[in-house]
Amino acid sequence: MTRRKFLAFTGSAIVIGGAAYYGFSDKNNLVRADEMRDSVTLFPLKPDEKEILTLASLAPSGHNTQPWFVKYVGPYHWIICNDKSRWLPGVDPTQRETILSIGAFLQNLEYAANNLGYNCQFNTLATTNQDENIVDVKLTATTAIIKYDVEQIKQRRTVRSNYLKNVLKKEDSSFLTVEENDFIHYIPNTSKEHVWLNEQTIEANRIQTYRDDAQKELADWIRFSSEDAALHLDGLTLAGMEIEGVPGWYLRNFYGKSDVMKKSFREQSIDKVVKEVSHASAGWLIITSRDNSVTTLLETGKRLQRIWLKVRVKNIAIHPMTQIIEEAKTNQILNTSIGIQDPIQFILRAGYVKNYPNPVSLRRSVETFVIAIA
Ligand SMILES: Cc1cc2nc3c(=O)[nH]c(=O)nc-3n(C[C@H](O)[C@H](O)[C@H](O)COP(=O)(O)O)c2cc1C
Repeated sequence: MTRRKFLAFTGSAIVIGGAAYYGFSDKNNLVRADEMRDSVTLFPLKPDEKEILTLASLAPSGHNTQPWFVKYVGPYHWIICNDKSRWLPGVDPTQRETILSIGAFLQNLEYAANNLGYNCQFNTLATTNQDENIVDVKLTATTAIIKYDVEQIKQRRTVRSNYLKNVLKKEDSSFLTVEENDFIHYIPNTSKEHVWLNEQTIEANRIQTYRDDAQKELADWIRFSSEDAALHLDGLTLAGMEIEGVPGWYLRNFYGKSDVMKKSFREQSIDKVVKEVSHASAGWLIITSRDNSVTTLLETGKRLQRIWLKVRVKNIAIHPMTQIIEEAKTNQILNTSIGIQDPIQFILRAGYVKNYPNPVSLRRSVETFVIAIA
């Protein structure tokens, strides 16, 4: 049985998402619920503003930290900010992935605004990945705009299991890379680079899993219990990690942070990665950029999101596996091993799936990430 809820924005709450029903009583953390809290809204967000920012927040982020907040300058005028308390120093010490995630947020924001008939004017304020104020955004109502189907934003998700082994059809790989050709490289599962990426993804995961700072950080972002998931509305739930059925129920009820540091948990995580990469996929999608400036990283995050929003109609799943980039030992041989010169920003496992699952990862409500500026 599948459960999906989409409450209208006209009310005070929005619940986006859906989840498989596993037959257990405890299933709160299987459902993405931007639940309305009783929090006092500091200023009246207009319904369109709320819809646009809610849809923006459905962007992906490493460990689902949602590393953004929004300063409300005035109606339809915001500053999109970098939330230092949500950085991942253990795996992303330079905040490269934070800025990429904020880029994805901006792409959602733009599409959602376009859908409601607004043009976006973006002005990048940040000069480093650590700056708080990233981009100033002003929305202007216009009739001359191409509407975007926001269902694609609502339905996008990371898919980790049940990939088929067919390579991407020519027309599908062209569809994904059109207008982005210089920055997207498809590495089919028939190539030797594919084998290298598989092996090194396992190796990088092994290194990272036994790096205590990275593992401790992961522990802080796993929401084992439904209470924890409902409290934070962020992080990695078991449903999001596709740990389902009896194992999911067991972990949800009997596991906690300290278990993540145990050898058995680390070994099981590595086994899961081995299964994911060895089982099947169409191959890898590599996203590159010209350089590593803030502006370029934001553009690259937007590019990731544009592609990710296109894949579902083709039944193509995407799974970022960033450990090769995050671990020095594998990162230093990455470019030469796969014959790419430009900086590599994303390594995405990609492949067809038969049944596309609905999104389940949680998001904080807009009220908790929009603040008034004095
Ligand atoms: C910069 C970045 C890095 C990510 N790295 C990984 C990763 O290494 N492994 C993984 O399983 N998912 C990775 N993800 C996917 C996130 O975990 C996922 O987007 C987040 O949990 C929200 O889930 P959703 O994409 O289904 O909305 C990454 C996403 C981003 C944007």
